[in-house]
This record gives sequence, C-alpha cells and structure tokens, in this order.
Amino acid sequence: MKGLILAGGKGTRLRPLTYTGAKQLVPVANKPVLFYAIEDLVDADIRDIGIVVGNTADQIMAAVGDGSRFGARVTYIQQDQPLGIAHGVKIAEPFIGRERFVLFLGDNFIRDGIVPLVDRFRAEDSHSLIILKWVPNPQDFGVAEVLGDRVVRLVEKPREPKSNLAVIGIYMFDHHVFQAVNAIKPSARGELEITETIQYLIDGGLKVAAPELTGWWIDTGKMEDMLEANRLILETFDTRVLGKVDADSRLDGKVVIERGAEVIRSVIRGPVIIGERTRIVDSFIGPFSSIYHDCLVTNSEVEHSIVLENSVIRDLDHRIADSLIGRNVEINRSPCKPKSYRLMLGDHSKVGLL
Ligand code: G1P
Repeated sequence: MKGLILAGGKGTRLRPLTYTGAKQLVPVANKPVLFYAIEDLVDADIRDIGIVVGNTADQIMAAVGDGSRFGARVTYIQQDQPLGIAHGVKIAEPFIGRERFVLFLGDNFIRDGIVPLVDRFRAEDSHSLIILKWVPNPQDFGVAEVLGDRVVRLVEKPREPKSNLAVIGIYMFDHHVFQAVNAIKPSARGELEITETIQYLIDGGLKVAAPELTGWWIDTGKMEDMLEANRLILETFDTRVLGKVDADSRLDGKVVIERGAEVIRSVIRGPVIIGERTRIVDSFIGPFSSIYHDCLVTNSEVEHSIVLENSVIRDLDHRIADSLIGRNVEINRSPCKPKSYRLMLGDHSKVGLL
C-alpha cells in the first residue's frame, strides 16, 4: 500500500499564522502536526508516501525532506490551486498507480494511530474504508447517513445533518477512486469534494467499509482544536529533562525540557514541553503549554498555550492563557509614555486585553 498526505490548502481558519506558514507545520507538543501523519503511516508499514503540496511547498519540503528520517520515501506532488481533496487525489494518480492507498489529510490527528484500520482494509475485499466519529457539531464536517452497518449517503457540511457521524480525514481506497474523482464536478465552493467521491463509489455498488472510531480524533484546523490536540498529546508524555534547570526552579508534574533549554528561577507546572534553546526566566509556565524552540519567556506567566519558535514574552503583569502565538512574536510592556497599548498585528489577529 501507498500513502497520500494532503498538505496544500489555505488554512483560513488558522489565520494569521497561515499567512506565512503551512498549517500542517504548526507544532502540537512541539512536533509539526504533519509529522504525526507520516509516523502513523510508517507505523502501519506504509513507507512509499506522496505529499500533495500547494503554495507552502518549500516549507513542507524543508521540514520533511526525502522522508528518510521517518523511515519513508517521500514524493512531492504539486497542486497549483487548492481545488479540493478529491482534486489532490486526482493529480496523485501517476504516483499511486494501481495500488491501494491511505489518504491522510495533513491536519488530521488520531490518538491510536491507523494500524488496526489499515490491517482491516488489507484483510478485506472492500474498495474503500472510511472512518466515522460521533461529533457534537456535524455541520462542520462531511456527515454519513448510516442504515444498519451500511453508509447510504454522505453530505459535505450539511446545514441539517442527518446524523452526528463525521467522516474523518483519513480514508482508504483502491484504484476505483480515480474513476470517481474524474467523474465528479466541482461543488458550490468550487472544490472536488471527497464526500461526493465516496458517494460515487457507493452509488456504483462498490463496497465501502465504515467503522466507527472510539478513540479521539481532532481536525486541527482551528485554534481551539490545536490547543485540544496539544493537551491530549502532552498528557501522554513522561518527564524528561535534557536541558538545564537551576536550583531555584521547580518542575511539577510531567515536564519535558528539550536539549539546550534553560529554566531559571521559574516554576513549570506540567504537562508542559519547553523547546530546544528556549529560556524561561523568572516565570511561571502552567499546564498544557508547549513553548517551541528558541523562545524567551521572562518575568511572565503562560498557561494552556502554544508558542511557536523565536518568540519573546517579557515583563507581563497578567497571565497569558488559551493562546496560540506565532513565530518571531514579541510581547512586551510598553516602555514609554503615554500609557497605551502598542500593537502591530497581522490581518485576522485576535487579541484579548484586560
Ligand atoms: C474535510 C472534508 C470533510 C471531512 C473533514 C475532516 O473538510 O471535506 O468531509 O469531514 O475534512 O477533517 P475541510 O477540513 O476541508 O473543510
């Protein structure tokens, strides 16, 4: 089997971060979301992996390389315009050929990996396998209408969902899918929809298995979802201190201090990860925080937040919480009069002031 990861797309729900960076490279517990997908495929012994890239191709290629460090062989497939998931599949046909494959949306995330699901698809004679998950907000996803153990209808983001079963962004197909993606027409949002592709297979009488996932699944498209994924991964960590912690600091609970990081006169209350070469000075880092590489937090408090690389948080009077802070960001106290907020924010930034 082969793997196909989609890492194009605009990431509009994660703006402004996605103006400059690929959403698939936003770190969850200090590891880009995309890497979890690659590792899931390799765990299922799928090593021949195509990655569909869009206008953030350079960043994705720089981060993943040829795949050898994951034990995989990666082929990049350029998608010139984000014309939908099924379009990504369509342009990958030369790479996939006649093999069966797993299609993995690069921002999707499941805790228990895909090994049992891939094993099931390998053992069965079905033409496709989709994975369903009960969600409270089905209108945000592709939704399945199920009759007994059969899926009869899939609808993309229905206004009035017929069930609470979302179709998650990990799918398995055989070569029949190419007939479908070549037959369907763009939807109202101008995309070739994966839901319509699968509906085409169902309507053609092909066998589509649809097991329900019991473990958690997160589509990390929005900030709240990133924070949730971050929480869930951090909870699985054990304490590991590879950097320096001085005698005036305290680590409570599960805390990972990566290589070259320094904790000085600070309290870190886990689960927390502090990235490489990051310095935490005279500060408090509270539960469910991931501070990425090369950051400085000094004389400040941060909790339940993700901070990306090279950012500085300095001398704050109030705690930062529930936040997603991008790369090279500086948060300081305004040093001079008049006493005022001094902001330089990108489009679509959100700030909650006290
Ligand atoms: C896509 C699919 C949708 C699926 C979802 C899973 O939605 O179109 O059917 O349920 O991924 O993450 P998108 O994230 O592109 O809006």
